[in-house]
Amino acid sequence: MNNQTILDILTQTTEYVSGQALAEELGVSRQAVWKEIQSLRSRGYDIESVTNRGYRLASMPDYLNSAAIKAALNTKIIGSELTVLDTVGSTNDYLKQSGAEGCKSGTVAATREQVKGKGRLGRTWQSKRDENIAFSVLLRPKMAPNEVASVTPLTGLAVCKALRGFTGLDCRIKWPNDVIVGRKKLCGILTEMSAEFDAVEYIITGIGINVDQAVFPEEIAYKATSLLLETGRHYDKNKLLAAVLNQMEQEFLRSNLELTSDALDEYSKLCATVGKSVTFMRGTRRVSGMAVGVAENGELKIMLSDGSVVMVNSGEVTAQGIY
Ligand code: BTN
Repeated sequence: MNNQTILDILTQTTEYVSGQALAEELGVSRQAVWKEIQSLRSRGYDIESVTNRGYRLASMPDYLNSAAIKAALNTKIIGSELTVLDTVGSTNDYLKQSGAEGCKSGTVAATREQVKGKGRLGRTWQSKRDENIAFSVLLRPKMAPNEVASVTPLTGLAVCKALRGFTGLDCRIKWPNDVIVGRKKLCGILTEMSAEFDAVEYIITGIGINVDQAVFPEEIAYKATSLLLETGRHYDKNKLLAAVLNQMEQEFLRSNLELTSDALDEYSKLCATVGKSVTFMRGTRRVSGMAVGVAENGELKIMLSDGSVVMVNSGEVTAQGIY
C-alpha cells in the first residue's frame, strides 16, 4: 500500500474517514489500513480514531514531509512529483539520477538531512537532520544550453520574494543568487544542467535555506545566518518550502523562464550588490570596480576606474559590506 494515498485522503478533509472507506478507496483490506495508520503514527502523524466514525488527521509532524508540503502547494508543474527523503548525499545528485531515468519536469526532491551537499565553486553544503530546508527541482525546458543562464537569477528572485513574503524579513539578493539578510547569507542556490550540444536535457536547481540552525562552523559563522537567528522564531518548514515552490512556478511561468524586463527590474531592485564597490578575479588578478547593474543575460555590469564597463558572468564577486 502507498502511505501517501492514506495521507492524501486524510489531509484533504477535517472530518473522520471510516476504515471501510479508506480500504475501498485504496483497494486494500481494513487490516492493511490499520497497519498503515500505526506506521504513520510511529512517524509522528497524530491520527485520532473513534469507533463507528473512523480516522481523522489531527496534526502532522513538523519535520519535512510530503503530505504537509502538498497540502500547501498550489502549483501545476513544480512538485507534481515530490519526494521527501530521510537522508541523502545531495538532492541535486539524487535528481540527476532521476533525470537520467526520465522523471518528469517539475519533479522535486527534498530531504530531512543532507550529508554530502554541494555548494557553488566546489564548496560543500551540509544540512543537519530537521534543521534546515534542502531541496532540488528538476525542469526540462525547451531551450539551448546558452539560454539557461536566466534560470539562476529567476530562481534567486523567486526564493527571495517567497522568503520576504513568508517571514517579513528584508531579504535581498547577493549577485548572482545568494539570498541574504543584512550582511549575511540565508540561502544558497546551485544550478546544474545536463545538455546535448544544442538542447538542454534537464536543469536541476538546488536550494538550501538555513531555518533553525543556531550555530555555524567557525569558518563561515561571520557570513551565515538563519531564520531562527534573524527572528528568534521557528518557522513551519513544510509551509515555507511550499511557499518557495509556489513562487518559483509563478515566476517561471510569468516569464517563460526568460529574464524579462519586468523580472530584471524586480531582480535589480532586490539585488544588494548593485550600487556597491566590488572586487572580482580577472584571470589571476583581483580587480575593483562598482557594480552598476544586471544585464538581460543575468551578468553583473561592473564599472572599472577608467569608466569602462565589464560583464561578469560567474565566479566570486565580493561586494563591500556583504561578505
Ligand atoms: C551555494 O551557495 O554555494 C549553493 C548552495 C546550494 C545548496 C543546495 S542544498 C540542496 C541542493 N543539494 C545540493 O547538494 N546543493 C543544493
